[in-house]
Amino acid sequence: MKNVNITTTYQVFDAINELPKEIINLFKEAEKAQEKAYAPYSNFQVGAAILFEDGKIVTGSNQENAAYPSGMCAERVAIYHAGAKHPNLKIKALVICAKSNTKIVDQPVGPCGACRQSIAEYEFKQEQDIAIYFKGEIGKIVKSNSLKDLLPLSFDKSFL
Ligand code: THU
Repeated sequence: MKNVNITTTYQVFDAINELPKEIINLFKEAEKAQEKAYAPYSNFQVGAAILFEDGKIVTGSNQENAAYPSGMCAERVAIYHAGAKHPNLKIKALVICAKSNTKIVDQPVGPCGACRQSIAEYEFKQEQDIAIYFKGEIGKIVKSNSLKDLLPLSFDKSFL
């Protein structure tokens, strides 16, 4: 038996103006999408925006349902929107922002496990890393250079 250690690296920014212009703009698009969240049950609104290599942008927001598990996270709405609309374009970056009606979200909100798996599929498919940025309503912003850094030992089609 041997122990194997997995380490991961991510970057933390203190303020949005430390980010590249195209990512600041992408966060603006994510915030517009966040306004269209349908979250009457959790009161937690999430917006996601995806930047393609050619500059195109698609967005998504969380869409809840009275049958709770039928709802969908913003990141998966956005990534499936991207896959459906521009299946042959490579994705450069994905940004996520979250806020709540009941409290100030002052920490970066990372994608849930199911969203990580969904994003991994598209990163694997395009054979190019996707930069992932996430933030709350206020506070620091996290950047991960690749989904692989957020989901080690992931499952992909190479196992099938
Ligand atoms: N949610 C997202 O949209 N993305 C995440 O990564 C975490 C959670 C949504 C799902 C649900 O509508 C609400 O936030 C509370 O879980």
